[in-house]
Amino acid sequence: MEKKSILITGGAGFIGSHVVRLFVNKYPDYQIVNFDKLTYAGNLENLRDVDQKPNYTFVKGDILDEAFVEETFVKYSITCVIHLAAESHVDRSITNPLEFIQTNVIGTANLMNVARRFWGDDFSDKLFYHVSTDEVYGSLGETGYFTEDTPYDPRSPYSSSKASSDHLVRAYHHTYGFPMVISNCSNNYGANQFPEKLIPLFINNIKEEKPLPVYGKGDNVRDWLWVNDHADAIDVIFHEGKEGETYNIGGNNEWQNIHLIKALCKIMDEKLGREEGASEKLIAYVQDRSGHDQRYAIDASKLKNDLNWSPSIEFEEGLENTVQWYLDNSEWLDNVTSGDYKKYYDQQYNAR
Ligand code: NAD
Ligand code: DAU
Repeated sequence: MEKKSILITGGAGFIGSHVVRLFVNKYPDYQIVNFDKLTYAGNLENLRDVDQKPNYTFVKGDILDEAFVEETFVKYSITCVIHLAAESHVDRSITNPLEFIQTNVIGTANLMNVARRFWGDDFSDKLFYHVSTDEVYGSLGETGYFTEDTPYDPRSPYSSSKASSDHLVRAYHHTYGFPMVISNCSNNYGANQFPEKLIPLFINNIKEEKPLPVYGKGDNVRDWLWVNDHADAIDVIFHEGKEGETYNIGGNNEWQNIHLIKALCKIMDEKLGREEGASEKLIAYVQDRSGHDQRYAIDASKLKNDLNWSPSIEFEEGLENTVQWYLDNSEWLDNVTSGDYKKYYDQQYNAR
């Protein structure tokens, strides 16, 4: 078998950096090329502990720049792609859908076009792993779960762009025999998540005693998964998943937003030595997200039954570790919440 040279796109982002770290440490024989544009969400600080390893290379690049992607394929003789680069925040997609269409749809097509040209007809030992989201399936009522057969029904510009990219990846498989696999995962939490997403945003606001902007009634439900478990599932699917297949990844861990927020407030009060109930007083119900999906819940039994994967830790433990990580890494948090972040925060929340 030829040596793997893996292009991980979006490797400086939240999930990408955990995937890069896992692959660099676990597979010293693989060459790992982290290809990332370093948007506001990409941060090389996330990878300080592995960036000197001999099997790791960082390339600053845009997946929309097809010629440069091709140059990178040639330079590093890329045999596999794990594609995580994307615009990922639903609220930003409501403000600026076009950026999501460009990166998530056109960017994915660019990567596959380059891979097809570079790999030619020889798809042996080649793989394009497309990392996607459960949001492509739409929104659930009080019961039921998303399975791999649930019809697509994306409802935000973000989820529509991810659904389009999923369709393109499957279409390339069907039309050209392009070697691919897709996974659709639920909400991730953990270290290094940009504080625009619910959990790190609220940790930061509690720390700074700022209001906690709960959208609508706070009764929306999400299924939370520790980011390291997602990276682990990607590793399993990359190595053992069946080519052409889709796998759902989830935490079997549904929380109504308001219950999760109250649990977070309790942990923060304890850790910060504040009086019980202090952080809950910061809760502020604000105008709902437009088109807010009510509930996501994943049925991950295919992954469990076929590849024997399941999450490794309980949510309470993961959430506490996560809070501790943000408290221990206040410099990371301060760095990413200075500058442009303040403008973003004012735009998103002042008018709500
Ligand atoms: P993120 O926003 O934290 O990181 C995205 C990364 O992609 C950043 O490093 C950014 O610099 C890079 N990037 C953006 N545009 C690029 C471009 N044009 N060229 C090269 N690099 C570019 O995102 P995340 O939360 O880590 O999500 C990673 C992937 O996983 C996305 O595809 C997302 O749709 C998917 N996903 C995320 C979640 C979640 O809960 N966060 C759940 C399921 C699936
Ligand atoms: O389900 C997977 C998806 O999870 C990923 O594909 C996305 O990339 C990721 O961003 C995430 O999407 P969500 O929209 O579910 O995550 P977010 O953290 O933005 O919001 C979680 C819930 O919290 C959602 O119901 C909206 C609510 N919320 C969010 C923010 C930022 C609030 O009530 N207030 C807020 O300020």
